[in-house]
Amino acid sequence: MNSNLEIKNISKSYINQKKIFVLKNINYKFKKGKIYSLVGPSGSGKSTLLNILSLIDRPSKGNIILDSKKIDFDENIKNDQLRSNNFGIIYQEKNLLSDFTAIENISIAGIANGKSLIQTEKLAQKIIKKLKLQNRSNHFPSQLSGGENQRIAIGRALINSPNIIIADEPSGNLDHKNSKEFFKLLFDLRTKNRIIIYATHNRYFANLADCRLQLIDGKLKSINARK
Ligand SMILES: Nc1ncnc2c1ncn2[C@@H]1O[C@H](COP(=O)(O)OP(=O)(O)OP(=O)(O)O)[C@@H](O)[C@H]1O
Ligand SMILES: [Mg+2]
Repeated sequence: MNSNLEIKNISKSYINQKKIFVLKNINYKFKKGKIYSLVGPSGSGKSTLLNILSLIDRPSKGNIILDSKKIDFDENIKNDQLRSNNFGIIYQEKNLLSDFTAIENISIAGIANGKSLIQTEKLAQKIIKKLKLQNRSNHFPSQLSGGENQRIAIGRALINSPNIIIADEPSGNLDHKNSKEFFKLLFDLRTKNRIIIYATHNRYFANLADCRLQLIDGKLKSINARK
């Protein structure tokens, strides 16, 4: 099966008082249809890597290959469009805009992507139903529980039918029951053309993935590959 997301010799360093090397020449091919978990101690570079993968941040060295094309990190506008077309991104918290309702939060990314209002509304209704949150459509984020907020964040990430879903500790603020519900929904998004990558500190949820990746001392290790 072809890979449509590849990292090649990626390094990332930050210069504060002294230079720190977070990612050290890492290589990996993510394969369509697979679900990946990313683990590693706090500060090991999980968010750094996910932000580079989703074209939010740029590597100090190395390349990202998306659908056989090398990303040019100087092409900001093009990369914003690529991100909007290809990626659904979910963070640990504050995924939603506080002044917009649940259904509006799901819709905004669709409209920003150039879909028509009617098309987006239809799609958002379908998605919110799938998330079993249609009775929360008109609630604002502050009127939703933590679990509901994260489920709406899945909806927001889904509106543009992404090939790649990236989630950075998406259940970090949820209890076990809500985390389980969240991951059930996330795993239901598997399709043969989609890559799903999530970072977590929770071993139970990390173990659910097809491939477990670990960041340690700036290197990426595959610690299992069940499938
Ligand atoms: N903008 C930045 N400037 C300087 N250093 C940074 C910056 N962003 C991250 N770092 C440093 O890079 C290292 C990796 O951070 P990162 O957030 O990727 O870790 P993480 O594995 O996601 O940790 P956590 O599990 O706590 O979320 C840390 O030492 C952090 O302090
Ligand atoms: Mg992090």
